[in-house]
Amino acid sequence: MKPSFQQAFNKALQQEELTQEDLVLLLQAQGEDAQALRNLANEVRHQAVGDVVHLRGIIEFSNYCSQQCHYCGLRAGNTALGRYRLTQEEIMTVAEAAVRRGYKTLVLQSGEDMNFSVEAITELVQELKKMDVAITLSCGERSYQVYEQWRLAGADRYLIKQETSDPILFSRLRPGRTLDERLECQRYLKDLGYQLGSGCMVGLPGQTIATLAQDILLMREMQVNMSGIGPFIPHGQTPLKMASRGSVELTLNMLAAARLVMPWVHLPATTALSTLNPEGRKLALLSGANVIMPNVSPQEFRSLYQIYPDKYCINDPLDDHWEELHNLIHSLGRTVGTDYGHNYFEEAFSYVQSKI
Ligand code: 5AD
Ligand code: SF4
Repeated sequence: MKPSFQQAFNKALQQEELTQEDLVLLLQAQGEDAQALRNLANEVRHQAVGDVVHLRGIIEFSNYCSQQCHYCGLRAGNTALGRYRLTQEEIMTVAEAAVRRGYKTLVLQSGEDMNFSVEAITELVQELKKMDVAITLSCGERSYQVYEQWRLAGADRYLIKQETSDPILFSRLRPGRTLDERLECQRYLKDLGYQLGSGCMVGLPGQTIATLAQDILLMREMQVNMSGIGPFIPHGQTPLKMASRGSVELTLNMLAAARLVMPWVHLPATTALSTLNPEGRKLALLSGANVIMPNVSPQEFRSLYQIYPDKYCINDPLDDHWEELHNLIHSLGRTVGTDYGHNYFEEAFSYVQSKI
């Protein structure tokens, strides 16, 4: 082991609190150091959240977006993209199919589509909850009142990533928006009793290893319940089309470091990682991840939810996907979650403290 890495790694082994400097050393690990880091995260994952892998079915119900994020293919400025908005019936149809297939969580995701009304989403949540599933919403930055309405309708979780912990980079890449406002939304959600999903991209232009270390520390500070960490993939119709893609190796190190700093957290093996490496899911599950979020949207719309190009598994029918995932999870000696797979920070945290 590289001596500088060894020092930080030993702190992780002893479960000492890791500083930003320690995380920078861990994130830079290569070769056998990187493998040791990921193995340790895999062990901590086993101890803290067990061997269950939770499957969450994502329904991408609208690709309209009012925002202009420089990294994302759904940005309003991308006029080359065909737009769609599913009807309530279309959403209910795919949701029922997913629930029949065995999904216990549905994630409703869209761009910031202000023409899909708050009331329509409220009604959807109420209808979906009748099917005995946990509901995650991912519909962007809204007011406290809107989040409250959806929470009262039955929504369990909300996914709103911090994207980057660097406030200057954040506002450069998300014109008109600030990191502070984003974190304020996250505080509202925690306050309302949602399980909070955050996350960040790895390899954004202008991001440094120190930014990534800070990303993990900020998520710990926000006591997030879930953290979606995936590589940035440039999209040809965005201002970042010439930028380089994020690294798979660094993304795996990020997952591992996030697991070490937040043992309780739900960590998905992101679709973006699988898009860059067909083995991505497996590698992530062996580096601390314990969640997979397959796409259960109607086939004909999937290619239009083009956040980045060549999204993985865009054509997989529901049944094939289900079987393939079960095979993968079982081949790793793990099991598929059969309950909602909630993550309550406090409970999980005390569980971890007693266990490790
Ligand atoms: N590459 C990877 N991930 C992206 N996202 C948006 N654009 C990209 C991209 N080009 C992620 C962001 C956002 C989510 C919808 O997708 O993290 O929160
Ligand atoms: Fe819209 Fe979200 Fe894409 Fe930004 S990242 S353009 S808010 S869909």
